[in-house]
Amino acid sequence: MYRPVTATRTSLPVWMIALVVFGVLAILGIIIGLLVHFLAVENRTYYYQGSFKVVNIPYDSNYERETSPESNYLSKILENKMVDAFQSSSLYRQYINSQVIKLVPDNSGVTAQIWLIFKAPRSVKAGTRTRIESILHQMLKNHSGSLTTDPNSLRLMEISKVDAEKITNNRCGRRARMSATYDRIKGGSTAQEGEWPWQASLKKNGQHYCGASLISDRYLVTAAHCFKKTNNPKNYTVSFGTKVNPPYMQHYVQKIIIHEDYILGEHHDDIAVILLTENIPFKNDVHRVCLPEASQIILPGEGAVVTGWGALFYDGAYPVLLQKAPVKIIDTNSCNAEEAYNGEVQDTMLCAGYMEGNIDACQGDSGGPLVYPNFRNIWYLVGIVSWGDECGKINKPGVYTRVTAYRNWIASKTGI
Ligand code: ARG
Repeated sequence: MYRPVTATRTSLPVWMIALVVFGVLAILGIIIGLLVHFLAVENRTYYYQGSFKVVNIPYDSNYERETSPESNYLSKILENKMVDAFQSSSLYRQYINSQVIKLVPDNSGVTAQIWLIFKAPRSVKAGTRTRIESILHQMLKNHSGSLTTDPNSLRLMEISKVDAEKITNNRCGRRARMSATYDRIKGGSTAQEGEWPWQASLKKNGQHYCGASLISDRYLVTAAHCFKKTNNPKNYTVSFGTKVNPPYMQHYVQKIIIHEDYILGEHHDDIAVILLTENIPFKNDVHRVCLPEASQIILPGEGAVVTGWGALFYDGAYPVLLQKAPVKIIDTNSCNAEEAYNGEVQDTMLCAGYMEGNIDACQGDSGGPLVYPNFRNIWYLVGIVSWGDECGKINKPGVYTRVTAYRNWIASKTGI
């Protein structure tokens, strides 16, 4: 018999339809939300590499040396020009950073190799390279000041993050991704990964013994007194990274060159270089510091940072993670005052710390770096932790080997 029941069965109850519609709408909403997020809201970082030419500069080989004052001054001028150009452009929100990586002089001028970072949502990114190019082109056309730049020499291309990092890691004294923050050795605070990529731990029979600084892919500098017990390379290893124990990776020592005028038990000429058995590939958290020129003047009052795994206070405990402490350069005269070191500080040494005491390097920091950033925020090794009367005592700041005084000695031993 005919029963019209199925018809009523096929129409779903209203609540169920509402539920289905609601579910579909919710899923659609999530998908649209995610799309908007990834395409229009979430920022991605883009890296670019390029070059342009400054034409009215006579050939000067000093531009070939990355640490020369000539290189730093010209680079700074060009870097300022780039910051100004991008910050007053329509890309000012996307602009993160721009740097001169290298200068290449020739008979018709100096070519500047540059490196840029921008941040933009995917949807906005299209056309960014052309926009950057046109901003730089305009900048090169405007000859403000005495420099003449050639807009037609401009080259620009997008590169990967890995290649961008490679470029900075190959230059001295730069950090891959760092905004240095001092929150809190003695009176210091824990360093972040990659903050002091040149810092090495020199280990004697596997135990941290001294600090050292990487100055090339094979050489380090440290203190001569670190080898007072033995200078057999076989007894030493070198490690990097913020954690001293267990080390992330060990490197072996081929040769130890101690300053020929260093005398055991005395403080002068406290410097040595270490040659590793193999070249180290540079990475974000392992690369070299810049060496200052012999003629560089280190001004008293300037801020510097000392880093190491040394004792947290005199005769105290040792940290596992690398410590950093902000210090100030102290002039040799005050450091030689009667109540201070009473004439013991020679002009091949450098005092840094505070006459009031408290923040200082300590035992186990020896051989490690005292660094400061120049006006381009590039880090230079100005001192090597050498000696002091205990740690952080009033009127007894840290005394360091003055690197500028040994710059030529380092060159004569390493070719760097
Ligand atoms: N000579 C000590 C060492 O072997 C470090 C001296 C640094 N002292 C200081 N107060 N800054 O580790």
